[in-house]
Amino acid sequence: MTAKTWHPLSWRAYPAVQQPDWPASDLAAEVVEELRSQPPLVFAGEARRLRESLAQVSAGKAFCLQAGDCAESFHEHSAISIRERLKVILQMSAIMTYAASVPIVRMGRIAGQFVKPRSSLTEKVGDREIPSFRGHMINSEEETDEARVPDPTRMLRAYNQAASTLNLLRAFTKGGFADLSQVHAWNQEFVTASPEGRRYEQIASEIDRALAFMSACGVDMHNSALHQVDIWTCHEGLLLDYEEALTRCDSLTGDWYDCSAHMLWIGERTRQLDGAHVEFFSGVHNPIGVKLGPSATPEQVLELCERLNPEKIPGRLTLITRIGVGLIEHALPPILAAVRDSGSPVVWICDPMHANTITTESGRKTRRFSDIMAEIEGFFAAHSAEGTWPGGVHLEITGGDVTECLGGGEQLSEAGLEEAYQTLCDPRLNARQSLDLAFHLAELMRR
Ligand code: PEP
Ligand code: CO
Repeated sequence: MTAKTWHPLSWRAYPAVQQPDWPASDLAAEVVEELRSQPPLVFAGEARRLRESLAQVSAGKAFCLQAGDCAESFHEHSAISIRERLKVILQMSAIMTYAASVPIVRMGRIAGQFVKPRSSLTEKVGDREIPSFRGHMINSEEETDEARVPDPTRMLRAYNQAASTLNLLRAFTKGGFADLSQVHAWNQEFVTASPEGRRYEQIASEIDRALAFMSACGVDMHNSALHQVDIWTCHEGLLLDYEEALTRCDSLTGDWYDCSAHMLWIGERTRQLDGAHVEFFSGVHNPIGVKLGPSATPEQVLELCERLNPEKIPGRLTLITRIGVGLIEHALPPILAAVRDSGSPVVWICDPMHANTITTESGRKTRRFSDIMAEIEGFFAAHSAEGTWPGGVHLEITGGDVTECLGGGEQLSEAGLEEAYQTLCDPRLNARQSLDLAFHLAELMRR
């Protein structure tokens, strides 16, 4: 289908995988109609500003931190939970900006990350087999058949939660909380006494001194860059009923934007060139991403670039590689070389989480901190060999004191996982592990 015939509904003529079977009734259509009448969550002009920032990343002048929950939860919606998730992103970006002197583009997996692709339609609970949990926008994580029935009214609840999350994020990031003078306040109590926490305090004190120095020199300290930050929102654009309903025509340019988030990405399981997701996202003008797993070939990747960014607009397309620690060294360089030689400008981001998931003997899904770091190192090495820019990382993290990933500075053990394993879906780095990773990352960026 050409750009001329694209329409927010044109994906409906293509095979759409990973969509729920809504119960037979008019309810899903009614909810979509209701969503269509609701205000957009983000504005086209904001998506364009993010695209410009990502263009800086594709030009090798900035670095991108894309991080947050694997799956947001309807049960975790307090101001405190939103603030703790924001704090760790602010801390990580302060470490990276300060230690590597590179501007950081921050994107949160937040305010819309409510739908999960699943490898299997069912899952085993004891000796029962029930439909899989698909994220709170579709069904409940409770382990009964009834709880797993897709409920379209959840789309409205997710929209409302996204709206209030975004409202608080905007207040926090523009209203003083993200002011650089608050750099100490972002450190959390349970982190402060740890080695990572102390290392962070050191950087925070250096930032304080640098600010005092600039002020004493007569530098105008009213510059908004010191007092406000942008945290852009993003999620996997998986549930096309929802994304379609929030897609609006921008009155300024006449272009279509998916106003559910600033940036959307197509997952590893839905990136088929002839599929509905690629069709849908080919026509919206937001910055978009595509996950690339170990089976992605250079030819497929070039076709995705052609299909999703035919005009070669810098910042439009982000390729998020999630190849796995054992394969990245061999699989990534040919992909980098092919895209580099095609002249298509892309942002390269490393997701070191999704191809490094393991299951412990006791059945816990987890990831090793050492594997995560090793995939990031392999990513930097491949880019260095191919002369391309390692533009960022894509992480599953949370501000809480959870125990979901093994290792890190605190050397979390398999037995330790049981203490606070809280994720609805994939294992996330906790606040200490996230800071630890940011320090390692800053060293790689400085090289
Ligand atoms: C995710 O980002 O949570 C996810 C499911 O990723 P992928 O599509 O890369 O498996
Ligand atoms: Co995940």
